[in-house]
Amino acid sequence: MAATAEQITDLPVLTEAHRESAPHPVNGYKRFEIGSFRFERDEYFARIQCPTVTHVMDVENFMRSMIRDVAWGFFYGWVNFDEVFGTVNNYDSVDVFMGAYNQAYKDSGTDFTERFEPGVLQACFKGLMLDWTNAGFNPFAAPLETGSGRGPKNGSNDEAVNFQRELADRFVSLPGDTPIRSDENGRPVNRQFADVDQSEPEVHAEAGFEGQLAAFNLFKYLSRSPVTWNPSIVSIVRSSAYCPTSEEHILPVDHGNDRVEWFIQMSDEITWRVADKDSAAPMSVVTMKAGDVACMPADIRHRGFSPKRSMLLVWENLTPGLEKRYASGELPPVPATF
Ligand code: PHB
Ligand code: FE
Repeated sequence: MAATAEQITDLPVLTEAHRESAPHPVNGYKRFEIGSFRFERDEYFARIQCPTVTHVMDVENFMRSMIRDVAWGFFYGWVNFDEVFGTVNNYDSVDVFMGAYNQAYKDSGTDFTERFEPGVLQACFKGLMLDWTNAGFNPFAAPLETGSGRGPKNGSNDEAVNFQRELADRFVSLPGDTPIRSDENGRPVNRQFADVDQSEPEVHAEAGFEGQLAAFNLFKYLSRSPVTWNPSIVSIVRSSAYCPTSEEHILPVDHGNDRVEWFIQMSDEITWRVADKDSAAPMSVVTMKAGDVACMPADIRHRGFSPKRSMLLVWENLTPGLEKRYASGELPPVPATF
């Protein structure tokens, strides 16, 4: 197996802005085009057209994937909406692909990739999400906590589409850390975290260190998260980022890693479906229970299934250029061999 998926090295970067049609006379949604990709939706489905094929997806699944691709700034490496369509973050550009990481499409020559300037692609995807999201549908919410995204155009939900993760100005709970404190923002404890202890830790600083030592209850913070499958960053120490998140139902994308990534299951359980990054061939199924720690290798794609809301800590290595060191084979795709 190759260390990482084959990345295309010599594509032109398209910088032309996207095009939007007038609203469809029957269902009310606009059509969006960028480069040679065309995106259309109807009451149930999203249709994506490129010069080689047309792809069809359930529209709610499509929007749950796209909102994360937008909010995460295209994330690390591969964001597969399903086994066929997705994006690759090259950091100075973004590839949009159809079947390029699916063996059957590659074998039949129907795979297709175009490369875009990140800002123009972001504007297209964001515009699409604003137009296609109906009132009452929050693509960041768990399915049991939101209305339907299906049906003809019915209002909008810009607040949900524009949702931004909270950023701490300094270490959480030190004076001036606002606005990260979810409880103070009035967010209620999630129905499935009613048993999570809400007390804050006691901090007793030595004389002279008052105001410099701090601690907060991360479980309390996560128990009040209004969104699912949307890691926030609670600490960064040099290149080490702790990204805890609250998970329920299905991670809408298959993330294809461009580096190893660690998972610490902090409560309940998640089952991960792991597949080959290049071909989408299934590789393994991993169920992580509270306390389990796993490393996702640099050469796979993974999608999580959380039967009840659970807490997961995603530990990311932000070292610049790491993706190139894995892609070249300089670093092995796993952190240890036994
Ligand atoms: C991941 O792809 O590693 C990932 C993404 C979102 C999450 C959790 C994990 O909420
Ligand atoms: Fe991942």
